[in-house]
Amino acid sequence: MAPIGDFLWGAATASHQVEGGNRWNDWWELEESGRLPHRSGEACRHYELYESDFDLAKSLGHNAHRFSIEWSRIEPRPGEWNPAALDHYGDVIAALRRRDIEPVITLHHFTNPAWLAERGGWTSRDCVDAFARYVDYVAARLAGSVKYWLTVNEPTVYVKHAFLSCDWPPCGSRSRIDAARAMRNLCRAHRVAYGILHRHRSDAMVGFAHSAPYVVPCDPGSIVDRLAARARDFALNSIVFRLLGANPRKVLDFIGINYYARQVIRARSEAGKYSPFGTECMADHHGSPRAFSPLGWEVHAPGLGAVLRQLSRYGVPLMVTENGIATADETLRTQYLRDHVAALGQAVRSGIPVLGYLYWTLMDNYEWTAGRTARFGLAHVDFETQQRSLRPAADAFRSLIASGGIL
Ligand code: FCB
Repeated sequence: MAPIGDFLWGAATASHQVEGGNRWNDWWELEESGRLPHRSGEACRHYELYESDFDLAKSLGHNAHRFSIEWSRIEPRPGEWNPAALDHYGDVIAALRRRDIEPVITLHHFTNPAWLAERGGWTSRDCVDAFARYVDYVAARLAGSVKYWLTVNEPTVYVKHAFLSCDWPPCGSRSRIDAARAMRNLCRAHRVAYGILHRHRSDAMVGFAHSAPYVVPCDPGSIVDRLAARARDFALNSIVFRLLGANPRKVLDFIGINYYARQVIRARSEAGKYSPFGTECMADHHGSPRAFSPLGWEVHAPGLGAVLRQLSRYGVPLMVTENGIATADETLRTQYLRDHVAALGQAVRSGIPVLGYLYWTLMDNYEWTAGRTARFGLAHVDFETQQRSLRPAADAFRSLIASGGIL
């Protein structure tokens, strides 16, 4: 295990959620056409305010920061590159380095250039080649100053919203075929990007951010509940690794773990309908009361330890690349952080190799279809004035970091 000083502590963000003015991507288009419930608009104006935002992160003792590069800024039209945008991200990295904050870069965090979406986005095989060209362009300039790379963020979540529940761009109609195609292409894109990044930097650490819910059966004594939970866990936590090839270790230097919640699964819905992947049960579990965030996500810290154990089976280091809660209750946010860091500490002490812990998120932002109502930030943002104010949980996190985060 790396000495405590090497452990990465920080927060995570994503371009479209914080930068503002991302008018060349598919989200912006649908936001403006009224087909999405909220507009990102100027978001947190982080594209301009990144220096002071990083001062905030530094004041909290962070030594790492995850952010994403907005593909649509880099390549606003097919094959037309924008060197000024690339310079901007070079400046962002330099600003982090001046503060001794390690950059962790995501290359694709849900948004696509609008031109790519028009050509079928991830359902089209061409998307993989386009992604490869973009990664090559970015890595040629930035790989010298960045070691940690996440190719794509949460392929399973992206595919579900884009092609199954269809509440995210392209906001079309449900298609299992498109979902399967997109999933396959995202995994191909990861593999190709892995090779490109290593060509530009042999000691690069390349992974992807995996959404890792902790899935358990509602009634462990019921075979149908167990089967449904197993099927769901397979769909959410295994398929993506299988699609990476017979030996995922060949294309993963680490796995980013985005953990938020436990899913308790019963085979039969309230209405008595069976479904192969079951339905989520929100009732108390074996008589024990359960706590949910306002988004309906169960607060369950031991689940973080469980998924770290589960995903350590791939034999590569892990990094918690997202973990957090949207709440107006600061006591709950602080407790959430403490309990999850404690679960992480336990996992590390049991020998699971974990490189870092990045809280979601540094400041309140544009939370996709939940708009500005879901506030995950260590800092509160007043969206009228763009004023940031640290929340009590930020101080609690600072103390955890200072004390070695009980690792
Ligand atoms: C994750 C996303 C991130 C944010 C959090 C709350 O699924 O990666 O952008 O929306 O959820």
